[in-house]
Amino acid sequence: MAATSRPLPSRRIAMIRPPATFATARLTARRPRAEDAAAVFSAYANDPEVTRYLAWKPYERVELLADFLRDRAADWDRPKSPHYAWLLCLRGTDTPIGSIGLMPDGGKVMCGYVLAQKFWGRGMMTEALTYLVDWAMSQPDVFRLWAFCDAANPGSARVMEKAGLTREALLKRWHVAPNIGPEPRDCILCSKVK
Ligand SMILES: CC(C)(COP(=O)(O)OP(=O)(O)OC[C@H]1O[C@@H](n2cnc3c(N)ncnc32)[C@H](O)[C@@H]1OP(=O)(O)O)[C@@H](O)C(=O)NCCC(=O)NCCS
Repeated sequence: MAATSRPLPSRRIAMIRPPATFATARLTARRPRAEDAAAVFSAYANDPEVTRYLAWKPYERVELLADFLRDRAADWDRPKSPHYAWLLCLRGTDTPIGSIGLMPDGGKVMCGYVLAQKFWGRGMMTEALTYLVDWAMSQPDVFRLWAFCDAANPGSARVMEKAGLTREALLKRWHVAPNIGPEPRDCILCSKVK
């Protein structure tokens, strides 16, 4: 059969717009504010145990953290943002104990998260991540939710698996954890696709 000149239908990949707040059984998530800096600093952002495998070093000054949180707050005011970050608070409080974020890129969305050490091991991050995985998968234009962690951070890999992601690959020399050293390290990549 001869080819027609009609163009193939193409699917438009829309940018996503996540909810500015959400709640789980034990947590509420909301937009960051610069005024959260002191609470975030003391909860987790200057804790070297928390930041060990992350891309950033522990904050030494609250003012720099306030600048960062101000930028994350401004992300929410952009019509199409590459980064949506929430601060996580225990239900019934407004005090941040962690953070979770989505980074959309067309039909792919990456997720990252961090929690104050005091709250580790209680299923809190699994709760928050599960909510966002379910939300992302319910969006017609999202086809892939993914996250990665340092290969030496099995607790984070476990969180991804408990939230419904599947281990997809070991990314060799993928990510620099400056608290450990300058060389890129191997990372575990997990995803959920539809
Ligand atoms: C990773 C992190 C978010 C986990 O949050 P959390 O609320 O403690 O996680 P959960 O309680 O939901 O689940 C942790 C799981 O990991 C397991 N785990 C923890 N440490 C582990 C280890 N060293 N080896 C194997 N499993 C481990 C726990 O047993 C639990 O699994 P289980 O429920 O099957 O027993 C938290 O430890 C954190 O913020 N760490 C510092 C920042 C970080 O690493 N962020 C991720 C970057 S990719």
